Amino acid sequence: MTALPTVELTVFPFECDAFGHLNHASVLTLFERARWESLARGPGMDLFDRSGVVPVVRKATVEYRAAALPRDVLRVETVITHRGTTSWTARQTAQRQSDGAVIAEAEIVFVCLDRVGRPVPVPEEVARVLGPRTPPAHEPQRIEVDGVALAVDVRGEGLPVLFVHGFPFDRTVWRHQLAALSRWRRIAPDLRGAGDSTAPADGYSMQRYADDLVAVLDALGVRQAVVCGLSMGGYIIFDLLRRHASRVRAAVLCGTRPQPDAEETRASRDELAALAMERGTEAVGERLLPRLVAAATPEDQPEVVRQYREMVRRMPAAGMAGALRAMRDRPDSTPLLHAIRVPTLVVVGGEDRVSPPDVAEAMAASIPGARLAVIPAAGHLAPLEQPLATSRAFADFLDALS
Ligand code: MLT
Repeated sequence: MTALPTVELTVFPFECDAFGHLNHASVLTLFERARWESLARGPGMDLFDRSGVVPVVRKATVEYRAAALPRDVLRVETVITHRGTTSWTARQTAQRQSDGAVIAEAEIVFVCLDRVGRPVPVPEEVARVLGPRTPPAHEPQRIEVDGVALAVDVRGEGLPVLFVHGFPFDRTVWRHQLAALSRWRRIAPDLRGAGDSTAPADGYSMQRYADDLVAVLDALGVRQAVVCGLSMGGYIIFDLLRRHASRVRAAVLCGTRPQPDAEETRASRDELAALAMERGTEAVGERLLPRLVAAATPEDQPEVVRQYREMVRRMPAAGMAGALRAMRDRPDSTPLLHAIRVPTLVVVGGEDRVSPPDVAEAMAASIPGARLAVIPAAGHLAPLEQPLATSRAFADFLDALS
């Protein structure tokens, strides 16, 4: 993600329609003016000429969010969200300077052509301005947050959906949803202390995880995302809703619960954290496994158990102990439920023994307008155990938002 210089542009009267509002075609022009102005303030307007290439727009998507009037001054940010060999994507946001209102957001895909119109690799000088090549799909990006390197799988274009894994899992718990939900921009980080992210010795909490996610959204230039959390991922989403509500477009709460740990569960978190540090993460993983999947899963779908064990093996012991203590200390999110004001989908495996269907039902009933989807023949790992039904429930919800 590379940011070009931010510029301020004034809305002219001739750019407005009969009702006095900046018209939709002028919004595109304004974004184009902003790009030229950014070049003028940075590497120079002749950047492409100097290298003998032409940037051509292949696709432009604009979301109009609020009206702008003549003489409004708009602050236009331009960030490069993707760079391939011959193409790149710019995300632009126009915000009114006086009140901060977002007027429009655009996503523009460019291809680099030579003088006779053939696609050519982005020349070196241009590449330096646009930033490093985005790693190929499935290779996670590395996003530094507060000294911790988070591995983040970022795929596709469209409405951003942030997938937050549970415990003791990592981003690969969403492997089927990341592949299936191709009409949306899927962002799946490994939380600190899980998967390919680094694991500090301590400092884990739901707030810390939530702040990491906000930093990931910032680094990717995403203002608002649909947030989708599995179990502990749901606990983190409650914190996002409490402290960063403006970043949440809608929520999917999967196999999760708003209540804090009971006293005996708190004690067992400590015991498991000690076990992880003394005997390794696999010892904890095996202890938890029987409660995580539906009764028939080990026999009918041994690959699900194999995938679970891989996630456990990848998880550093410090990250596992940190997550257990963070869950032990999480607050009660029950009072938050009535105050949730975004569209919400509650999803639960019909055989989930960690956060059972009756808990999900009560939670959905407490969130204004929430919908409930029960996934048959799935335990706590519904996204892996019943990938088609889970992805279908997500897709129906996401479709209704667009
Ligand atoms: C999870 O899946 O994140 C955990 O099972 C949640 C918990 O233990 O409370």
